[in-house]
Amino acid sequence: MSWREQFENLEGLQDIVNRAVSKFRNGSQAQTDSIKKKRINKLLKKASDKHTNLVDLANQEQHLYATINQAEHFVTVSKTPHFFDLEELLTNHKDKFNGTQEIIDYGCGNAVKSSYVYHLLKQLCPSKENRTLHLFDYNDAILTIANEVAKNLRITDVEIEPTKNIEEDPLKRRDKNIRLHFFLGQTIGNFRDARLVIENLNKSMRKGEYLVVEWLNREHTDYEKGNTGERNLEFLYRYFEEFGIPRKYLSTNNGHFMRNERNKMGIWNIGYLILNEEFVHPDSGVTLQPGTNLVGLKSHRFQRDELPKLFEEYGFEAVIFEREIISLGSPLGHPGRTYKRKYEPKGEKQYSILKKTHESSFRKKINLLLGGLAVSYGLLCGGYYAFEKSQINYCDTYSYTPEAIVCKIDENKISLPLKEITLVKPTFSSIDRDRFVIKYQNQNYSFEMDSFIRKISDDLFPIK
Ligand SMILES: C[S@@+](CC[C@H](N)C(=O)[O-])C[C@H]1O[C@@H](n2cnc3c(N)ncnc32)[C@H](O)[C@@H]1O
Repeated sequence: MSWREQFENLEGLQDIVNRAVSKFRNGSQAQTDSIKKKRINKLLKKASDKHTNLVDLANQEQHLYATINQAEHFVTVSKTPHFFDLEELLTNHKDKFNGTQEIIDYGCGNAVKSSYVYHLLKQLCPSKENRTLHLFDYNDAILTIANEVAKNLRITDVEIEPTKNIEEDPLKRRDKNIRLHFFLGQTIGNFRDARLVIENLNKSMRKGEYLVVEWLNREHTDYEKGNTGERNLEFLYRYFEEFGIPRKYLSTNNGHFMRNERNKMGIWNIGYLILNEEFVHPDSGVTLQPGTNLVGLKSHRFQRDELPKLFEEYGFEAVIFEREIISLGSPLGHPGRTYKRKYEPKGEKQYSILKKTHESSFRKKINLLLGGLAVSYGLLCGGYYAFEKSQINYCDTYSYTPEAIVCKIDENKISLPLKEITLVKPTFSSIDRDRFVIKYQNQNYSFEMDSFIRKISDDLFPIK
């Protein structure tokens, strides 16, 4: 069977994914995740304390995708083959990808798409050396499954990065390979603010390298139709189940579960379900009233050049796609108007090819502002990159003295002497948004953003 035939056989693909899921299930030990439980209770309390009939639980994926059940749903092979547009794009621009030694896929999901890209580029841009497929995701289950799937799709050289949140950390630039970067699916739309992700993509790349970004220009009603609709609805039910709300308490809104909203950041597609009877959450004691609107999905709908322009603010240059449009009324041979775009629309799918041209200065701005913060609190501010992902201690209550921040975790009080704090940074990751992290003796402590920090955050992300 040729590599193409393997991808055309959707049942076969699904079978490969199913086997990878079972292997993962058998190899992993079911653990009760007390940290996750605690976080969920807290999030539920926070989201419901406004006593409105709207409880926003969206964008908490990092912890809620982490179960095998969620991962399994997430890696299911889509019923509609979706590689043709990407293939056309890569074929038309193959001269840019000559010499690629490594393909990096950020947020790889089941890795079927990037495995396809790998085989395609092997055909379009043959190379004498072995080419690596480098997979990257923040979900351990998904990453392990993706690794297995890619191997079964006959990619001999697969590497996986230890789980990493692209909102928080760039990839380390390790070697001199010529690399081609991919950020595919609607992943870029799932962040509250794409700028930190773009910044980290910039940091993960070397000058001159290309990044291919895919996103969807989809009406909210399109999320309700056909297979896509079934998958999204199932996603929402599972998502709330992860919060401990059984599906029998949940309904659609007369068949609808998507709407759209516009706020200062842009246009969003919102996924929600309605609580059909009073529900008392067993762990947290939170009571939700019938009719409560539970929001579980928020996806940014980028408009036209909005996304490539954002990349251009952070050290990238978008490739221009030119289209000549001949108007019907024009005499034969008369050239029509030329449209220039920084993205290529292909139905609902949109693509940009972005070249890293320079280092982004955004981080410098953060460090500068945090420098100000550090001085005002007498903190010593370390480099942003010194922050490494490790266990985070959540300081639910805290107080300041002139010399220290006193963090209370359960019954313990931990004093963080200001002079010994090596880093302070706001976190914008979905689960920890509106918090900031400080580092002391190689431990990370996370705090609610108080009004002072919030002001800094607003200064950092002025709405244009
Ligand atoms: C919409 S899926 C896209 C999968 C695949 N790229 C595709 O196009 O089919 C998003 C993937 O990104 C991962 N992801 C989401 N947020 C992430 C983050 N902050 N850091 C790393 N991976 C993330 C999810 O676990 C998931 O596998």
